[in-house]
Amino acid sequence: AATALSAVALSAAHAEDLTIGFSQIGSESGWRAAETKVSKIEADKRGIDLKIADAQQKQENQIKAIRSFIAQGVDAIFLAPVVATGWDAVLAEAKEAEIPVVLLDRTIDTPDESLYLTAVTSDTVYEGKVAGEWLAEKTAGKCAIVELQGTVGSSPAINRKKGFDEAIAVHAEMKIIRTQSGDFTRAKGKEVMESFLKAENGGKNICAVYAHNDDMMIGAIQAIKEAGLKPGSDILTISIDAVPDIFKAMADGEANATVELTPNMAGPALDAIIAYKKDGTVPPKWIQTESRLYLPDTAAAEYDARKDLY
Ligand code: AHR
Repeated sequence: AATALSAVALSAAHAEDLTIGFSQIGSESGWRAAETKVSKIEADKRGIDLKIADAQQKQENQIKAIRSFIAQGVDAIFLAPVVATGWDAVLAEAKEAEIPVVLLDRTIDTPDESLYLTAVTSDTVYEGKVAGEWLAEKTAGKCAIVELQGTVGSSPAINRKKGFDEAIAVHAEMKIIRTQSGDFTRAKGKEVMESFLKAENGGKNICAVYAHNDDMMIGAIQAIKEAGLKPGSDILTISIDAVPDIFKAMADGEANATVELTPNMAGPALDAIIAYKKDGTVPPKWIQTESRLYLPDTAAAEYDARKDLY
């Protein structure tokens, strides 16, 4: 990584002189769209020129965008990595060009942590654990669960599964009876849930659905209703993100719980880069954002508080 001294030597005197390239995954979910929107707002607040490249869910597009940012000589690169592996070569090019990289909302698998300056993410294993523990308490440790996983190979899909599996492992009568990826989208969440319902006696064998994000759960709720069952009571729901539509479903009695993921990853990332460029302050390797469980009692108020941001 660029040393603190070379960071100072490369530094822009004011935040408003900084140009940052952000390789964003795409717009697979309501949460993702909000993250993009909040990133622009946070950059504007600080007078930073944030160039956002939409990769349409493809790693190859993210790699191209990073190479283009390097060629443009940006001051820093933000990367929301669609999958965890396959970044070493392109991040080594950024390192060679002395451009600091900040990971946003997802992590990467690499033997060389010097390839990025810091990662601004939640504890995604913990999110899965909170979800599993809530469900264990709600069902007194007895539940046949279907799981909608996020994008295959992405850090939140891997970790949210791990945390949930660990939480339910101590309950002999809690089992995941079906699990499949819904790619973090509403459409695929609905499609996969339809196949789970068909395979499980029209849904009568299913006690709960765990979705790695709210968008897949919104799709699953639709599928459950179309199958003639009541989401939120016939089949319990627990998901992650805390987007307005899940609060609406919770207020309507069609969803039971969500774990919040803040869409403001850019704010702490921008502050870290400004400090690094100003005087070489090296941020902690992990800037952790908060994860919090929300239940129906506050759903109407939370919906009102968030609806304009998304
Ligand atoms: O990486 C964060 C995850 O990506 C969000 O939970 C999901 O909605 C998004 O697609």
